Amino acid sequence: MRRLIIGGNWKMNRGTPAETKEMLKKLIPSVKKITTVDIVIAPPFTALLYAVDIVKKSNIKIGAQNMYFEEKGAFTGEISPNFLKDIGVNYIILGHSERRNIFKESDELVNQKLKKALSMNLNPIVCIGEHLEERKAGKTKQIIQNQIDKTFNDLTKEGILKTVIAYEPIWAIGTGKTATPEQAEEIHIFIREMVASKYDKETADLVRIQYGGSIKPTNANELFEKENIDGGLVGGASLQADSLFEIIKAADETTK
Ligand code: PGA
Repeated sequence: MRRLIIGGNWKMNRGTPAETKEMLKKLIPSVKKITTVDIVIAPPFTALLYAVDIVKKSNIKIGAQNMYFEEKGAFTGEISPNFLKDIGVNYIILGHSERRNIFKESDELVNQKLKKALSMNLNPIVCIGEHLEERKAGKTKQIIQNQIDKTFNDLTKEGILKTVIAYEPIWAIGTGKTATPEQAEEIHIFIREMVASKYDKETADLVRIQYGGSIKPTNANELFEKENIDGGLVGGASLQADSLFEIIKAADETTK
């Protein structure tokens, strides 16, 4: 019922033309036969134009790692959604915990960006997730509820259906400590319940919820097998074509 989606978030780790070309030229032939999974690669801004061109005839879509919510103006250092649309970017990662924690992006700002992305027909991947101390204090659901209330505030049903929600526990990102499939599934169910109460059950059943945080070829399968985990947002393991392919294959082998 829900199509799985795998996103590769290169962060600031890869992105020269040579690196982009090497990675994508390896990935394109290996994923050629994958028809059941949406595949998105998000390189840094400077590689986007180049990446869009390389994947043109493939089943890979390109995403950006951030954008601003205004289309034009005196916003030094920011990127307009117009520029992204214009070069053929399809997806946009918003509210990643690194944006929230290092660059102090608030739920309100992410909400503005989300609404703008939707109005421009870009496909948003919106990240939410708790810190380790919050989990240890038993506050995970409270934090998630608060993030959903604010980040998805005032979103139409069509808007939430077009949005991919990425549950990324901050303690699992780049740490090698993946959430167990049970831990992730519990929160994915909770998120789906929240969507059901805000909209309706049908919307909740259709919305895609990815997991992110130290996904590797060795744990991808058990995560994607969970009923409510609709693929993943992959950082470290997306930097090599073979490991990303293994993860995409794991998603392809899971039927939902
Ligand atoms: P990781 O990053 O796979 O390296 O943990 C995931 C992410 O930040 O989206």
